[in-house]
Amino acid sequence: MNIAIIGTGYVGLVTGACFADLGNTVICVDNNKDKIASLKKLIMPIYEPGLDELVRRNVKEKRLCFSADIKEALRKSKIIFIAVGTPPLDNGDADLTGVENVAKAIAKNLNGYKLIVEKSTVPVETGFWVEHTIKVNLPNAKKGKISFDVASNPEFLREGQAINDFMHPDRIVIGVESQAARELLCDLYKPLKTHLVVTDIKSAEIIKHASNSFLATKISFINAIAQICERVGADVVKVADGMGMDKRIGRAFLDAGIGYGGSCFPKDLDAFITIARKNGYDFELLKAVRDINEYQKKDIVKKIKDALWILKDKRICLLGLSFKPNTDDLRSAPSLAIIESLQSEGAKIRVFDPQSMEKAKEIVQGVTFCKDAYQAAKGADCVVIVTEWNEFKELDVARLKKIMHQPLIIDGRNIYEPQVMKKNGFRYIGMGRGKRQ
Ligand SMILES: NC(=O)c1ccc[n+]([C@@H]2O[C@H](COP(=O)([O-])OP(=O)(O)OC[C@H]3O[C@@H](n4cnc5c(N)ncnc54)[C@H](O)[C@@H]3O)[C@@H](O)[C@H]2O)c1
Repeated sequence: MNIAIIGTGYVGLVTGACFADLGNTVICVDNNKDKIASLKKLIMPIYEPGLDELVRRNVKEKRLCFSADIKEALRKSKIIFIAVGTPPLDNGDADLTGVENVAKAIAKNLNGYKLIVEKSTVPVETGFWVEHTIKVNLPNAKKGKISFDVASNPEFLREGQAINDFMHPDRIVIGVESQAARELLCDLYKPLKTHLVVTDIKSAEIIKHASNSFLATKISFINAIAQICERVGADVVKVADGMGMDKRIGRAFLDAGIGYGGSCFPKDLDAFITIARKNGYDFELLKAVRDINEYQKKDIVKKIKDALWILKDKRICLLGLSFKPNTDDLRSAPSLAIIESLQSEGAKIRVFDPQSMEKAKEIVQGVTFCKDAYQAAKGADCVVIVTEWNEFKELDVARLKKIMHQPLIIDGRNIYEPQVMKKNGFRYIGMGRGKRQ
């Protein structure tokens, strides 16, 4: 099939490359001309394992190309995926101006039947507005002469394992209102041989917000349990193991830590709370989830402070900046809030992250960027594990202890065993792992 993907970010680029790899002809479009120019030179704008090779292969085999010209892409394609960003506005709404702009551009350039698919995460009823916008903006000569369908196909891939998630999804959700749209999307996804959940558009839109909100709820739930564990001297990892073996609960997303971040959970929760309120429902549960998450970010700073007394001029090493491992994405990363709080107390911060240092240099000031974990830990009064990159799980702890000013580890992701670290001579503080010191 001929496909256009509008918006070549984490989702659009992965989606485009994967659809191309499945044998489709794909044009990835972006209004960021620099991004398109780089992609034409095969320079990836993001770090995502395996993406570079996937893009190269499909460009070489002429199934994938890049363009800043939406007109050309629309002309050549039957299915148009909208994968632009939907960032949060100050009032909690999702900013849908990108989606509206694309809908207007589609209307202007429609040259025959097209299926327009929302891939971006959008609030319920966006499908209606996309259809309305296209109808209103169709040139008069084309009104009533050209037909199109709108569908919802939310994306569930995770950064860091996006290609695998795309190629081997748990399910694919398709929200459609016409047989033509249903057939096109079912055919397109057939090679993936997975469960297709076919619904109406509104239900599909809600499935995405409900799924992300539920996962965020699991994280905040276990973080609240971690707080109780610290007050009574229990171990949240054992609690999570014990809970997670119950098939009705499951172990995934029950890892206590410094809270979720990223470009999805925080904004999708806000958007869901806002859309609920607009529809007359106060989603108090999700507000509590959000509050618990904010608390975790402040609490780790309190832990550092409790352990070090005065923060002014203390040397603090943060390991990890990205909001989770295997990505360079810093959007709403807890590291940013932690750095800001520590800096406001006068701490001297040294950081290392395996992939996000270049992006961090553009937005974080006044910290020392180091070439590896050991350089960052040199002379430190405290090492804080912020992101659970695998390479931090395998540090030479004897070497670490030798180079630090004092052997204190605050493990914001519970990647180490408290007893092991104590045996190695560290003062170890985890998240919900025994009585709070
Ligand atoms: N990142 C994820 O893990 C993830 C997972 C599932 C769903 N989503 C959702 O997918 C959507 C995209 O997320 P992302 O992380 O890929 O964002 P992103 O910011 O990485 O990419 C969005 C791209 O859209 C481009 N763009 C914006 N307006 C445009 C326009 N009018 N025309 C052409 N291009 C335009 C931007 O230049 C950018 O390159 C969001 O709604 C997000 O919530 C993201």
